[in-house]
Order: sequence, then C-alpha cells, then structure tokens
Amino acid sequence: MTITPNPLLDLTGKIALINGGSRGIGLSIAKAFAANGAHVIIASRKQEACNQAVAAIVAAGGSAQAHACHIGDTAQIEALFAAIGEQHGRLDILVNNAAANPYQGPIVETSLSVYEKTMDVNVRGYFFSCVHGTRLMALHGAGGSIINVASVNGIMPGMGQGIYSVSKAAVLSMTLAFAQECIGSGIRVNALVPGPTETRFAAPVLQDPEAMQALLPRLPMGRLGQPDEMAGAALYLASSASSYTNGASITVDGGFLLA
Ligand SMILES: NC(=O)c1ccc[n+]([C@@H]2O[C@H](COP(=O)([O-])OP(=O)(O)OC[C@H]3O[C@@H](n4cnc5c(N)ncnc54)[C@H](OP(=O)(O)O)[C@@H]3O)[C@@H](O)[C@H]2O)c1
Repeated sequence: MTITPNPLLDLTGKIALINGGSRGIGLSIAKAFAANGAHVIIASRKQEACNQAVAAIVAAGGSAQAHACHIGDTAQIEALFAAIGEQHGRLDILVNNAAANPYQGPIVETSLSVYEKTMDVNVRGYFFSCVHGTRLMALHGAGGSIINVASVNGIMPGMGQGIYSVSKAAVLSMTLAFAQECIGSGIRVNALVPGPTETRFAAPVLQDPEAMQALLPRLPMGRLGQPDEMAGAALYLASSASSYTNGASITVDGGFLLA
C-alpha cells in the first residue's frame, strides 16, 4: 500500500476569497486552504490587518494576497469581485465570514441603526457577495463552492442577540436559495454553523464574568471552540471531498445545540 496525501482535500490551483479573513475563524480557514494548495485572497475592512494575515501565510509557504473590503458597502463588494475577475479571471471558492453584532440587549429595544448595520453586513453583504461570486464562478465555467458562515444563533436565537440571530437565520435561508438556483452552474452553496468560539467577536461574552458563568454550563464539552476547529469543516466544503454536498448546514458547536 502507498500512502499519498488525500487528493479529495487538495485545493491546488484554486482561487479562494475569504471575507473577514484577517483574524479569528476566517484566518484559520484561510490558513487551512493555503496549506492545501489554494491561492487565498484575504479581505476585511482594514488593509493592514489583511496584509499581516497574508504575510503570515506567505511566511509559512502559502500563496495569498490582501484586498480591503467592507461588506456593508455594496460598491466595495463590486470592486472586489471586479478586481478578482481582472487579475485571476476566475473564482473557485468564496467564504462569506465577516459579520457584525453591534448590540446585545432586549430585542424590543433594537434601534434602527443597529438593525441596519447588522442586516447591511450579515445579510446584504453575504447576499451580494453570493451574487457576484456565482457570476464570476459561472463566467469561468469550472463551478465552485460557496461557504456561508452562519451561527448556532441562526437556528436557536441567542438571548439578547435578537437581530444578530435573525440575520444568521437569513444566512441559512440564503444558503438554500443560492444552492437551489446555482447547481446548474456547478456551484455548491453550503453553510458552516459555528457554536461559541474564542475570538474577538465573542469578547462581549468572554469578558463578562456573568455571561461566561451562564454560558459555561451550556457547553457540553466544557469549553468554547477554537477558530482552528472550524477549518476542517470549511476545507471539506471547499474541496471535492464534498462534491455531493449542496444546501447543507454543518454545525460545529461541540454539541451546544444539544444542551
Ligand atoms: N466567535 C463566535 O463565537 C461565533 C459563533 C458563531 C458564529 N460566528 C461567526 O463566525 C464568523 C467569524 O467570526 P469570528 O468570531 O472569527 O470574528 P472575529 O475574530 O472578530 O473576525 C471577524 C473578521 O471579519 C472582519 N470584518 C468585520 N466586519 C467586517 C465588515 N463589515 N466587512 C469586512 N470584514 C469585516 C474583521 O476584520 P476587520 O476588523 O479588518 O474588518 C475580521 O477579519 C462571523 O460570521 C460570526 O458571526 C462566530
């Protein structure tokens, strides 16, 4: 028997865009894709943060480039996909991962500005990234994989996280809608559904002893997830290992939804 690296997970020659790729879950996903041969495009609001992520990937022997893009701004999304089309002429993998969660509190006190910020980034940003991503994938004709990073809150709303939870439920619905309509172009669309994960995004909970005290008993594994623990499912969804997986939501939550 000869042992060879698993070709099912090989991303050599693939162009992958990860928005929100400069830190946390997005950076872990970008590193995993690069380690498996993809050229990764790291996007987030801050160019410098993207540059740093790219430098770390390149120093480790990977191939990467940075592109600042605020996904709450549709003109910036259009410009990003136009630049990728011009430079690479293709896109094989899109990870929609950047998100906003500006408000923790009673849902009935949600302000219009909080509502708009959350929906502009988490719903409109993902939606039009899917639109432009599928167009670019279809143009090249080689199919592709879109991974929308949702949240367990999209399945079971988090207390005091009403509008964020609503936006993540929309991400799950959007995943099904694009999966249904894009499969004719060979594009698969799936969702990755993380549970509580130790990143800057979770800081309002991590830094609040009362919130942590309430959360810990609800974690069946007795701990939060780590960003690197999200990368395996993303790699599966990006690669040909998942060639028959479409419209699926893969929960990576240590059993959180069971508790
Ligand atoms: N951490 C958790 O407990 C948890 C649980 C369930 C689901 N999730 C989901 O996992 C995803 C990643 O979260 P994370 O925990 O890894 O967060 P994180 O560590 O805070 O990273 C967020 C990333 O998104 C970028 N970003 C934020 N707003 C953006 C915008 N408007 N446009 C473009 N980029 C933006 C940030 O960079 P810049 O600041 O440079 O823009 C950063 O690269 C999110 O979709 C989140 O909803 C997280």
